[in-house]
Amino acid sequence: MKAGFYQFNPSFGNKEKNIGAVTSAITNVHMDLLVLPEFFATGYQFVHRDEVAKLAETVPDGYTTKALSELSRKKNIYIVAGLPELYEDKFYNSAILTGPEGFIGTYRKTHLFFEENLYFAPGDTGFKVWDTEIGHIGIMICFDWLFPEAMRTLALSGADIVAHPSNLVLPFCPDAMPVRCLENRVFAITANRTGIENRKKGAALKFIGKSEIVSPNGEILVRATEDQETLVIREIDLRAARDKTLNPFNDLFKDRRTEHYKIV
Ligand code: ACM
Repeated sequence: MKAGFYQFNPSFGNKEKNIGAVTSAITNVHMDLLVLPEFFATGYQFVHRDEVAKLAETVPDGYTTKALSELSRKKNIYIVAGLPELYEDKFYNSAILTGPEGFIGTYRKTHLFFEENLYFAPGDTGFKVWDTEIGHIGIMICFDWLFPEAMRTLALSGADIVAHPSNLVLPFCPDAMPVRCLENRVFAITANRTGIENRKKGAALKFIGKSEIVSPNGEILVRATEDQETLVIREIDLRAARDKTLNPFNDLFKDRRTEHYKIV
């Protein structure tokens, strides 16, 4: 199947423009799975709770979920994308999965990064894997990568591929993802953004780009540059993620010695 990411520089607060940019980028391009950045339609650096309130949406009946569900239906593709979600009286840093049948599901970011803690509630969905026509798709969001338990949980839950909407500012993730993929023998697509948001005096955020697709062997199949706005699609075979053996003696999941994984 063909899977990839769209790395770009969203305009803060301009959902129509950002969703329009995604729609134009994929016109006339065939793919089965597209991963978009965290908060791809709103931008990232909120400076007041009122801003979050203005831009957050309910799922699945909010503007962005409806637009992506429609795009998924029209193009017959699966899309994973990040958005600020309003649920009851809380905001979540969420990612949705849409597909040819429309809206499929939501994941709420478990590990909040930095000032996200001012506005968002820690996710309460746990790590989820969806069994789709193209394979088992798990989702984690940005900073979740730094907690190995996140990807491990997704892999043990059967994920073939981890869709990873991101707004990375620290430099470490792109070089760490190959290890995450190798130890779990899954594919991952990190969809990061480019650009700078300077909405808070003295606290500019520079996003590092370097979106990538990584194989279960820990090979970086493709990596974007730091500042390129680019749609990248690669052919991948998800069956490679279902074989956890390294050699006739070692199976990375069966060899786990969980009785020793306790703090003493
Ligand atoms: C991040 O979690 N957006 C770094």
